[in-house]
Amino acid sequence: MKAATGAAGQAAAPGDTGGGTAPVSPRQTMRAIVQAGYGSADVWHLEDIGRPAAAGGEVLLRVHAAGLDRGTWHLMAGQPYVIRLGSGLRAPKNPVPGLDVAGTVVAAGADATGFAVGEEVFGIGQGSFAEYARARQDKLARKPASLTFGQAAVLAVSGLTALQGLRDAGRLQPGQHVLITGASGGVGTYAVQIAKVLGAQVTGVCSTAKTDLVTSIGADHVLDYTRDDFADGSQRYDLILDLAGNSPLARLQRALTPAGTLVLAGGEDGGRWTGMGRQIRALAHSPFTRQRLTMLISRQRRADLETLAQLIEAGQLTPVIGKTYPLHQAPDAMRYLQAGHARGKLVLTVTGPDEPPRAPDQRAGARRPESAVTAPVGPCSRPELL
Ligand SMILES: NC(=O)c1ccc[n+]([C@@H]2O[C@H](COP(=O)([O-])OP(=O)(O)OC[C@H]3O[C@@H](n4cnc5c(N)ncnc54)[C@H](OP(=O)(O)O)[C@@H]3O)[C@@H](O)[C@H]2O)c1
Repeated sequence: MKAATGAAGQAAAPGDTGGGTAPVSPRQTMRAIVQAGYGSADVWHLEDIGRPAAAGGEVLLRVHAAGLDRGTWHLMAGQPYVIRLGSGLRAPKNPVPGLDVAGTVVAAGADATGFAVGEEVFGIGQGSFAEYARARQDKLARKPASLTFGQAAVLAVSGLTALQGLRDAGRLQPGQHVLITGASGGVGTYAVQIAKVLGAQVTGVCSTAKTDLVTSIGADHVLDYTRDDFADGSQRYDLILDLAGNSPLARLQRALTPAGTLVLAGGEDGGRWTGMGRQIRALAHSPFTRQRLTMLISRQRRADLETLAQLIEAGQLTPVIGKTYPLHQAPDAMRYLQAGHARGKLVLTVTGPDEPPRAPDQRAGARRPESAVTAPVGPCSRPELL
């Protein structure tokens, strides 16, 4: 059913297909995190800016929640530099950060026939740290009814990485032994659960305080990296999904069976230019060993989003949410993620599903200092396996 173009979509910069936002108008502004250049989380500020408009195959979403992920950090920092070829050389083409999103469709571009106004969706948006965001309809799926918007908002980026890392790059078969490093993090908490669904014997590697979490999501064995060495020879693995990204290749290979597969998905220390030093070395070395050494660049496919939604509906997959922040605390959330010890996923709450748009007199003003914004809720430090 084709969605009608709603009021928000009509008024904002028709024909705007680029990454920018529409010019500010008193009636069509929104609160958004905005960055004028690349850098640390200090470049993020909460501002009132013009709403985007959906064009072509895009829909416009009223954003209820958004998710933090490492890719959003890379786009914020402009590192590795190679990503600037796509995101903008000196500053982001789209000044509003945020990929993971869950919200309600409020308008649609002329070619967006997949979703109706009012449908609740999740997936990958273009600037989800805002009250409204555009999203390509082929990067969205219907929100499972059993999930809150907060849960749905942290599903796409990390869930796709886990699914594709195990099923596609890893070619995981039932009965195989898989080792997942970084098992307690955003991708890892999905990977442990999906590996179980695929019929594997799962060993998760994490720090001491998170062993209970990794056990609770289904791992058969948990190794505490402060005490245990997964490469000590006591067990070899058919597949290693390396999310922690901080083990040398030789160590990972020692833990593999002679014909095992290594999927390098994580690592933030791969160099400022490509960010993929380890991955490139692994690919170069792979032809000279029986082991298959490969890497993952996850793809944003609707079919895989629907697979994740089906796993959720079947009760086989549950997002693990470590902390929830209000939108204006996005910089704090990103600093916490960047520190490298997140427990599951981090959520930004943006607007309540039943919350009416702000009245026009509340929307005026192109810039609002962050300190002037009332915090709706504080961060919740209770980890939830929801
Ligand atoms: N290739 C792709 O397409 C793709 C897509 C998404 C993400 N990624 C990458 O995948 C990696 C993981 O992403 P994420 O979102 O899961 O990050 P995250 O949420 O920050 O989780 C990282 C986890 O690693 C754990 N960790 C740190 N050192 C460890 C070690 N030595 N052994 C085992 N675990 C360790 C941390 O927990 P502790 O407190 O237990 O240390 C943390 O929970 C990142 O490097 C990210 O860039 C790649």
